[in-house]
Amino acid sequence: MLPVAELHMHIEGSLEAELVVALARRNGVDLPTFDPVELKARYRFTDLQSFLDIYYANLAVMKTEEDFYDLGTAYLTRAAASGVRRAEMFFDLQTHTQNGVPQEAVFAGFTAAIADARTATGISADLILCFLRHLGGEAATQTLREAMPFRDRFIGVGLDSSELGFPPSLFTEAFGIAGSEGLHRVAHAGEEGGPDYVWEALDLLAVERIDHGNRAMEDPELVARLRDEQVPLTVCPLSNIALKTAPPELADHLLPAMLAEGLLVSINSDDPAYFGGYVNDNFAAITNELALGPEQLGTLAENSFTSSFLPEAEKQALR
Ligand code: ADE
Ligand code: ZN
Repeated sequence: MLPVAELHMHIEGSLEAELVVALARRNGVDLPTFDPVELKARYRFTDLQSFLDIYYANLAVMKTEEDFYDLGTAYLTRAAASGVRRAEMFFDLQTHTQNGVPQEAVFAGFTAAIADARTATGISADLILCFLRHLGGEAATQTLREAMPFRDRFIGVGLDSSELGFPPSLFTEAFGIAGSEGLHRVAHAGEEGGPDYVWEALDLLAVERIDHGNRAMEDPELVARLRDEQVPLTVCPLSNIALKTAPPELADHLLPAMLAEGLLVSINSDDPAYFGGYVNDNFAAITNELALGPEQLGTLAENSFTSSFLPEAEKQALR
């Protein structure tokens, strides 16, 4: 596979069923089944929320610093082996603190995994702290304030979880603080929510990238803005199919239309343990199902570096 940067993946979404079971046993956590195959057979989604319910339930197995280290190491090792040179990984801090895990354990485990994976494979990685929309704006602000002792452990903030009913406008305070702290800002928008969520993320949260953004294509004025400002869109084809946020056949995905519009699109896995594959699997799927030539695949790979938050000199070294 071409070298890429992966900019839209939830590290918790790389928790494979086998690791769910292993961590449940290690930590004495009950599960509906201890057979990874049976557990995975339950991964049938009708929409974003039906996925999130299972994703959050599985995360009850994550308890210790070692668990976070093991999860981070598993993803980074696998990603490096399949062509990922740079990973900007989302993590859902509030999920873990709500489950009784001290934030120190989350930060220490992930940070050590990033450092060791760099030594072992050369992969460059950083963390983006995502606020959970369904917990609301005040909780986001409080989470960010409480995470400030760990300011040097993450490079930005994001916004994820249930989209509909939780528009970006609820999170202006937290994103304002993030901006004044010099943190990067991204948000999921236009996955299930309409173009208005994308406008709000740009205008009210001053985001530098839109995660997903597919539904922006419904609004020509918005498409023009995204093109003119070259706002990166981190598109996740297999996720869109699994969560039914795109037409059922990958062959009908809007990706070629987004490229034809001149949008700065990249390819990402979102939650690889749940949606049928890692970023290389996403590339394989779009190569097989969409009429994309080598030039367009090269553009997608190049866009991923262009859209990353690495300083320019470091980007050049990875391409
Ligand atoms: N959390 C994990 N994956 C997500 C997705 N695809 N959308 C919103 N929140 C998420
Ligand atoms: Zn996502």
